[in-house]
Amino acid sequence: MEVCIYRAYEEMSRAAAQLVADVLNAKPNAVLGMATGSTPLGVYQELVKLHQKGEVDFSHVTTFNLDEYVGLPITHEQSYHHFMHENFFRHVNIPPQNIHIPSGTTTNYRAFCEWYEKRIVECGGIDIQILGIGSDGHIAFNEPTSSLSSRTRLKTLAKQTIDDNARFFDKPEDVPIYAITMGVGTIMESKRIVLLANGAKKDQAVAAAVEGPVTSMITASALQMHPSTKMFLDEPAAGKLKMREYYDWIQYHKPGAPRV
Ligand code: F6R
Repeated sequence: MEVCIYRAYEEMSRAAAQLVADVLNAKPNAVLGMATGSTPLGVYQELVKLHQKGEVDFSHVTTFNLDEYVGLPITHEQSYHHFMHENFFRHVNIPPQNIHIPSGTTTNYRAFCEWYEKRIVECGGIDIQILGIGSDGHIAFNEPTSSLSSRTRLKTLAKQTIDDNARFFDKPEDVPIYAITMGVGTIMESKRIVLLANGAKKDQAVAAAVEGPVTSMITASALQMHPSTKMFLDEPAAGKLKMREYYDWIQYHKPGAPRV
């Protein structure tokens, strides 16, 4: 894992967006894995800016989202379909038929999940996957004790996640209890992974994921076994890392690293 710590959320978002843009510029028909939630918003805003400046083109890009709440129609303000459309898709030029988001309203979840997995493979696999991290250490909605080889499936959300996400809903009881989510095994097959975390609320989950044991209690810790994961953190999210000096030293001495 490569750990990069930035002074502020905006700087972290710009750096992560630039990495995604570099991947898309090197491979214009790349497959991009996308996350929702508050963390990646800055990256999406930066990618939209780069697109508007003509510095990245999405016309051959295919996308796969990590997850969706079960039971919310795609028009619901808190559905991940709505989130992605509002915050990203309507601002860039990804052909609508290239956009994949798990269905939260299918009548056959098992068949849908199998199709989603197959579709990722048919499209050539995910070239770069953007991830956030839950305060319980989840990636996508792979809650504690999820199998580290799990595939796309229906998942019951943990109480902690429901409480964390209640801020987006009118009433806590409106938060869906189930989600459809890519599995840890699915995510691990992505060629590159970018994990973003900001704020002190994530400091423990980040430290456990980066420096703790690989365990299904913190599904993000599985990324220690991934060959190309880069963590983009702001200062508060990095606050509990024990090897902080080492990460800074590495970044400073990387060939071509800016001497700031
Ligand atoms: C969302 C997702 C989740 C979030 C995580 C953090 O698609 O997969 O794992 O990344 O719950 O959410 P925020 O960014 O809202 O703190």
